[in-house]
Parts: sequence; C-alpha cells; structure tokens
Amino acid sequence: MAKQKIDLSNVTAVVPIAGMGTRLKPHTHTLPKVLLRVADKPILGHVLDNIKKLGIKKIVLVVGQMREHIYNYIEKEYKTLDIEYVPQNELKGLGHAVYLARNKVKGPVFILLGDTILDINFKKAFSRGESWIGVKEVKDPRRFGVVEIKNGYISHLLEKPENPPTNLAIVGVYYIKNSESLFRSLETNIKNNKTTKGEIQLTDALESMIRKGEKFYAEEIDGWYDCGKPETLLSTNKFLLGKYHNKPKVISGSTICPPVYISPTALIINSVIGPYVSIGDEAKLENVIIQNSIIHKGAKVSNMVLSSSLIGYRAVFNGWKNQINLGDSSEINLRGVDEENGCPKV
Ligand code: G1P
Repeated sequence: MAKQKIDLSNVTAVVPIAGMGTRLKPHTHTLPKVLLRVADKPILGHVLDNIKKLGIKKIVLVVGQMREHIYNYIEKEYKTLDIEYVPQNELKGLGHAVYLARNKVKGPVFILLGDTILDINFKKAFSRGESWIGVKEVKDPRRFGVVEIKNGYISHLLEKPENPPTNLAIVGVYYIKNSESLFRSLETNIKNNKTTKGEIQLTDALESMIRKGEKFYAEEIDGWYDCGKPETLLSTNKFLLGKYHNKPKVISGSTICPPVYISPTALIINSVIGPYVSIGDEAKLENVIIQNSIIHKGAKVSNMVLSSSLIGYRAVFNGWKNQINLGDSSEINLRGVDEENGCPKV
C-alpha cells in the first residue's frame, strides 16, 4: 500500500478475535484462529499491520479462549503498539464483543474483524470524513450481513437473511464516528435480548442507528480475503504470497518455485518447495514436494508429496519411500502433481 497521511490518531480500533474458528478445526482446538499463518505471518499480524499503516494509535483486542497465545504473540511481535485487551468469556455474538470494548473507546471507532484481511485504498475510504461500512458484491450473500442502499447511503442492514434483498455483503470493516450512539444501540439490544440467529449482532445495532438518523455510506472493497475455512485460508495465502514472499537462500539439493515464504530458521533438505507455500520458523522439510500449502512453526514433514495442505504447529508427518522391482512396459500411476518446468503446476 502506498504511503499516506490520514490523521486517525484519535480513532480507536476494536478488533474482535474471540471467535472459535469452528471451520478451521483441528487447528483451532489448540490455537486461536487468528494465529494461523498466511504468507509471511499469522492472520493477526496482517490485520495489525493494516491498522498500523492507518496511523491508528490505540487498539483494543477482544480476546476469547486460549488468549495467552495472543498475549505471547503480541509481546513478541507487536510490543511497541498500544494494545489493550478485553476478554469475552461467553460468545454471545459480534455485537456483544464490540460492546465489551466500550470503556476503552472515546471518539470514533474503527472495527476490523480479526479474520478479515483487506487490500483497500484506505485513503479513499476515509476521504469523505463520514461513517462507512465496507461491502462487496458476492454471488451468494446468505452467510453474510447485507446492506441496501438508497440515495447514496445505507438504508438497511440485515444479518444473514434467507432471501437477501441485494448481493452487497458486509465484509467486516466499519468506521463509526459516533461510537456513543453505537454503544447505546448495542446496550439496548443486549438489555432487550434482541438477537438474530441467536446472537447479539453488530448489524442489528447499526440498523437501529440508521433508523435514528445516523448516516453510513457503503465503501466497496475489492480486496477482501477471508480466512474462515481451509480453502479460503489457502487462497488468501496464495494471493498474499504475491506480495509478501521472500527469496530464500538456495538450499542445497532443493528447488524453490516462487512465490514462497520460507522462514530463515526453517530447514529444507532435498525438496521442491512451491509455488504458494508458506513455511514457519524452525519447520523441517526433507524429501518433500509441496505446493499451495501452509506449514506452521516447528512442524516436521518428510518423504511426501503434498498439495493444498495445512500442517499445524509442531505436527509431524512422515511419509514413506517406496521400493519397487518393475518389469518392462509396466505402468503405475500413483496420484501425483502435474509439473511445468520442473515445478508443480497449481
Ligand atoms: C460477521 C458479521 C457479518 C459479516 C461477516 C463478514 O459474521 O456479523 O455481518 O458479513 O462477519 O465475515 P460472522 O462471519 O462472524 O458470522
């Protein structure tokens, strides 16, 4: 993203990261979803870097289970940021998560969902100086909140409707100037136990704000990279490696097919790595052909052809080497990877 000067130093960012990450099990049995990596760092790192680039000084993370992993990560990688934590012990919905941050917010609030990596022109988004909600046209908006637009402003928001009136999905980024009004709306909904799909929704609170006369415009976001399930985590990894890759040292006996990100502390022996592979610190890969995959810190993979795979922190996956005594004109095709110029085709 180009350097830009938007003064958002009086804005507080609220980043809800307490969700269970159910669709990313088994990884999320032992780790908060936002610590899964894409390209060169965990999802949370991408989110925080975006907030940092905006010049927002104060960040509130609404944390859930296994939050000590988050504390350790921030302590190690983002010590210099002004980050405060608010625990969400019961998962009652996104609206509830945001409400818990109320005592830490003064003035405008920027809400960015913790699993939402964006590539957007923030300068344009903030240029009107008004409140806005990020949206994107999608084919099937039923698993998202959706908005309707009238006279250039959002006229209605609905959370995951069965029959969506438009295809404009809420992507998970919101700039709300009047945070007091937001917290009042959320409080009313919590007191009245107003839920949609069983949860206190941020969407519902924004809808009541609009009914009371607040104005939000819809900012169209092209670059919206979801990390909610294995396929989308891998496609986001693929996209981000186009930007955040590195050129690892030539490792003897191995071929690197870019783009890849390989931690300088990973050990690669006699392997073909890439394209679209992200490898975390201290991972060890030996006799492996791997493409389109994410290998987390400390994992050990050997004797294997792998594609579109996620290997968790410290997981060990050891394949086998075959031995065969094959007669003339025999043909055996084990499922493998198509090649192009010596590199796997993705
Ligand atoms: C939340 C919001 C929804 C939005 C979505 C974007 O839903 O409630 O309006 O469209 O994030 O990812 P969730 O995915 O947490 O169910």
